[in-house]
Amino acid sequence: MKTVRIFDTTLRDGEQSPGAAMTAASRLRIAGMLADSGVDVIEAGFPAASPIVRESVSQIAKKVRGATIAALARCIQQDVDAAARALQSAQRPRIHVFLATSPVHLRHKLRMSEERALSVVSEMVAYARHRCDDVEFSAEDATRSDRAFLSRVYSAAIAAGASTINVPDTVGYATPFELGDLVSYLRGSVRGIENAAISVHTHDDLGMATANALAAVEAGASQVECTVNGIGERAGNAALEEVAVALRTRRDRYGADTRFDIGAIGKLSRAVSRATRMPVQKNKAIVGQNAFAHESGIHQDGVLKERTTYEIVDPKSVGAASALPLGRNSGRHAVFERARRIGLVFDDDGRRRFYEAFIDFAQRKRTVRDADLLALAQASRNGPTHARAYAEDCAPSASPSATRARAAAR
Ligand code: KIV
Ligand code: ZN
Repeated sequence: MKTVRIFDTTLRDGEQSPGAAMTAASRLRIAGMLADSGVDVIEAGFPAASPIVRESVSQIAKKVRGATIAALARCIQQDVDAAARALQSAQRPRIHVFLATSPVHLRHKLRMSEERALSVVSEMVAYARHRCDDVEFSAEDATRSDRAFLSRVYSAAIAAGASTINVPDTVGYATPFELGDLVSYLRGSVRGIENAAISVHTHDDLGMATANALAAVEAGASQVECTVNGIGERAGNAALEEVAVALRTRRDRYGADTRFDIGAIGKLSRAVSRATRMPVQKNKAIVGQNAFAHESGIHQDGVLKERTTYEIVDPKSVGAASALPLGRNSGRHAVFERARRIGLVFDDDGRRRFYEAFIDFAQRKRTVRDADLLALAQASRNGPTHARAYAEDCAPSASPSATRARAAAR
């Protein structure tokens, strides 16, 4: 079984989500949680970006133990110096330098020729290596770069001392097949690749960040860069929880796993959501409120008989719980199971009347709570008009017959 390293960039790329800036205290707390959960590398920030980030990276480097702490730097000496200074007290520091390599970035953003870019990479990776034993190099916009040139850039970075070369799909443009193919190509063409780890850093602009990262792992990447809840620049990055749980669940397919404790996912997700004030979408894989919720009668019946009929991941293993929310799609099995759990007992006739009342109620309300079930049981014992009145009180309709039913029940 191959071990894939998790490089978490929640505190750097994740914090680049618009409006997601975290306080220094939250950043430190989240870094501690990431280290405790077995993340291999924590990218703590981009020290050249601001004094606040610089200070926070230093604090994380000083206090957080057990994981490598990385800091980002452009291929500029002052950036590398700022990263090195911020990482001074880290147990295992890493400087992560990057330079764009695609034609569009070289021409319009950097106004630099390919040959110049090559020498800047050699020079700045060597400089970073002189300041830190562990250097990662990223070719920004790698997936829109010329392959042969990219291969020369990574060869130069390794020759200058980089021990990890990162392949960013900066704008989320690649498809899984293409990224896997690019990783295979680089494995076969970069000089010195046998002495370096291949990393991937994927973005979700086309909704393929996690699929792309996994395709890269299949092709030989041994580090994945990701963020908690998938936050990050624009549409975000590959989600840590998706990558880790996919590798664990499909070890048969990937022959790979991570050292990350997936049991920490629930707490991490909530902490990051709170610190960034970014709610998690309800149907988000693994950490969304609905990720393990089953509402349809057929699914609820299946899960009650055997959880694995509709759950490929045990929710408990990721710090979550199954839910069988009751609504208009629910079936008898789940309704009576819930009723039993809250202590309701019926004879045959009561059972029929209760279920009829439930159906009527569930047509009007999106979700049915335990309190509703208790009230419906009581009302249905008193007769159908009472049950109808309860439903009407909760979700009144303007129909004259319903109004009559409410009046009659009072
Ligand atoms: O998306 C990107 O290219 C990045 C790099 C700095 C790794 O975030
Ligand atoms: Zn990025």
